[in-house]
Amino acid sequence: MELSLVGVGHSYDRTDVLSDITLDIPGGRILCIVGPSGCGKSTLLRLIGGLERPSRGQILQTGRVPEGCLNPLTYVFQDFALLPWRTVEGNVRLALEDHRLPKGETDRIVTDVLSRTRLSDFRTALPRQLSGGMKQRVAIARALAVNPAVMLMDEPLSALDAQTRELLMDDLVALWLRAPFTAVYVTHNLTEAVRLGHRIVVLSRRPGRIAEVVDIKTDLAERRADDPDLVRHQSHLWDVMRDEARAADQELING
Ligand SMILES: Nc1ncnc2c1ncn2[C@@H]1O[C@H](COP(=O)(O)OP(=O)(O)OP(=O)(O)O)[C@@H](O)[C@H]1O
Ligand SMILES: [Mg+2]
Repeated sequence: MELSLVGVGHSYDRTDVLSDITLDIPGGRILCIVGPSGCGKSTLLRLIGGLERPSRGQILQTGRVPEGCLNPLTYVFQDFALLPWRTVEGNVRLALEDHRLPKGETDRIVTDVLSRTRLSDFRTALPRQLSGGMKQRVAIARALAVNPAVMLMDEPLSALDAQTRELLMDDLVALWLRAPFTAVYVTHNLTEAVRLGHRIVVLSRRPGRIAEVVDIKTDLAERRADDPDLVRHQSHLWDVMRDEARAADQELING
């Protein structure tokens, strides 16, 4: 399934948060959205996910949802959003409970996503027994369980330390290489964006408009932190972001 945003804008009361966003979200690719704090990244994700209706413009869905898709637009949040009293397996099953699948099918899906996220040995663990990185792997397993058409990821690695972030980036790349999924991935972190994104969209300060779109051709499997192409992309993206972030700070100071 592909999504297209056409002239999308959004306002809360009288505050303009997003303006004139026209953007294609291609199937089977990871689209990263970066931009200064408060520029409307999470709002954009909520609009794409249908949690809010855009004040202006349209969000169009084309193409078919994948076979076995139980929830076309599925979120992964920064804070994992796990139920603390449920085991790893119980948290993943939660995503399937409303769908009345045959028991064997539910078991098959749970086993498959726990294996893909390397959590098979932790089925019976409770969230409090897990590291932050593992908790986020549970949240990712739960999202994958419904085979979404598009995963909407809001700073999924931001609550994790740098080393865990690295490992989770490797995990996400491995998951994508095994079964390419479509994702809109919001992050502050340009290292994540150039490591994971096929396309990177930089939003301007609020009201967020598209300041830059960069397509990265290097295969996800081939991306190395010191790759000159990626370093060049990252430094260019930072130039665009820095100008926007500085201007946003200045506006805050000046009221
Ligand atoms: N429900 C709401 N009602 C009113 N204003 C809101 C609401 N949600 C967000 N805003 C405002 O809209 C603007 C954009 O918020 P949003 O959370 O989308 O930005 P963001 O880019 O995700 O920020 P951050 O980088 O801090 O995560 C902010 O000024 C925020 O205060
Ligand atoms: Mg946000």
